[in-house]
Amino acid sequence: MSRIIDIRIEALANPTASVTEAPAVIAHSSASVHGTFFLETFGCQMNEHDSEKVAGLLLARGYQQVGTPEAAGLILYNTCSIREKAAQKVFSRLGEYRGLKGEGKKIGLLGCVAQQEGEDIFSRAPWVSLVCGSASYRKLPELLAKVEAGEQRVAGLDNDTDETFETEITRRDNPWRAYLTIIEGCDKACAYCVVPFTRGPERSRDSGRILVELKQLADFGYSEVQFLGQTVNSYADPSPRKMRFSELLIEAAQVPGIRRVRFTTSHPRDFTLDIIAAMNSNAAICNHVHLPVQSGSTRVLRAMQRTYSRDEYLEKIAMIRCAKRRTAITTDVIVGFPGETNGDFDETLSLLDEVKYDGVFSFKYSPRPNTSASTMPDAIPEEEKSRRLALLQEKQRVIQSETLQSLVGEVYEVHVDGKSKKENSWYGHSSCNRVVSLTSPAPDLLGRYVKARVTGCTANSLVGEQIPIS
Ligand code: 5AD
Ligand code: SF4
Repeated sequence: MSRIIDIRIEALANPTASVTEAPAVIAHSSASVHGTFFLETFGCQMNEHDSEKVAGLLLARGYQQVGTPEAAGLILYNTCSIREKAAQKVFSRLGEYRGLKGEGKKIGLLGCVAQQEGEDIFSRAPWVSLVCGSASYRKLPELLAKVEAGEQRVAGLDNDTDETFETEITRRDNPWRAYLTIIEGCDKACAYCVVPFTRGPERSRDSGRILVELKQLADFGYSEVQFLGQTVNSYADPSPRKMRFSELLIEAAQVPGIRRVRFTTSHPRDFTLDIIAAMNSNAAICNHVHLPVQSGSTRVLRAMQRTYSRDEYLEKIAMIRCAKRRTAITTDVIVGFPGETNGDFDETLSLLDEVKYDGVFSFKYSPRPNTSASTMPDAIPEEEKSRRLALLQEKQRVIQSETLQSLVGEVYEVHVDGKSKKENSWYGHSSCNRVVSLTSPAPDLLGRYVKARVTGCTANSLVGEQIPIS
């Protein structure tokens, strides 16, 4: 098994100084653009983490990462196509890069738009010389070699794979909280979603490899890990151990040095009681579940092919509410799915009242290529989608503000990961993923876990003060 090596962000400022355990591999400090890359990322946490791995892979090959396209010889753009707006953004950004090829720079498109549009990109934007979807990242070194050798149209677009993206080096952005992908792709077939087309079929990583990587992360000083997957709880260990997702959570929580284990995104269908039992058995497993519902109407859920009804979803919520610790629940909602009536939409609003989510990410339905919903009749007009979205967001704003106000006086353990501009002021996350800003006279709290008493709140976060350790 290959050794996983981790590069911290400081390594980018001074590439020869602080590369954890791997000084030799990026001993490259040329000021010229040759051998340099710029990588911009759009989209979800999976994309962010893919970019961390791609950056690691390039650093291991002697490239140096730079902060602007102007300073780079190779410009990579990791893209998102979940909604049309995100995909449009990619093409307008690509337009900005049009003139750069003439300067000898190489431009590559990675991720979901690359996979979705494929080689058509070469005709649409001939200044692009590399197109590579996430299921082909393993092949990036050979693809890049071709690009560097001057090939004009290099493509990695395999999608029917059982392989996962394993790297020896990952360049992580956050020094305390690490992403770790445990399952790639998606085997569900939600009628609106491009992910099964852009990220390919579901592939779970070997549990042994995941745990080895986690131990190494702990050795590097990471104390919080976030397991990632489009449907993280559909994890199916391909190794002979056949660990269940809940068992993986428990083992991860027992790794010395790891204080918090998060996971996202959970699919309601695969959210089972053993996950709650795992959360009850070990407080290092965070008390937060992101459980996208998409709609409160069983009729719409059926049309979306979500594989559960409103009542079945609510049973999962009831199960989470029975957990020993109060567990925060967040969700995703789509408004204006084809054929969604006012009555259906009212059911989504009433679901918000019933569940009282701690956070809702809400979106207007956007038709996507290849998906079954894209040809459904009864499209909802754009203005109506906007009206519904505004109503839903206002309802959630009121619910959330009541919840946050009710938390004044509570005590949270906060993992501090930022310093505010204000003096003596810091911010971080609770185990249940609430943002907490706090005051403390301590000179440096970055990376530390402190107890804070909540004294107030803003629209989306809690405000508190550190409780001195007695
Ligand atoms: N239109 C609008 N929202 C979408 N999502 C996925 N596909 C679409 C689409 N075609 C939303 C879902 C999903 C989140 C990541 O993005 O709510 O959970
Ligand atoms: Fe898309 Fe549905 Fe898979 Fe989530 S579960 S990634 S919404 S197809």
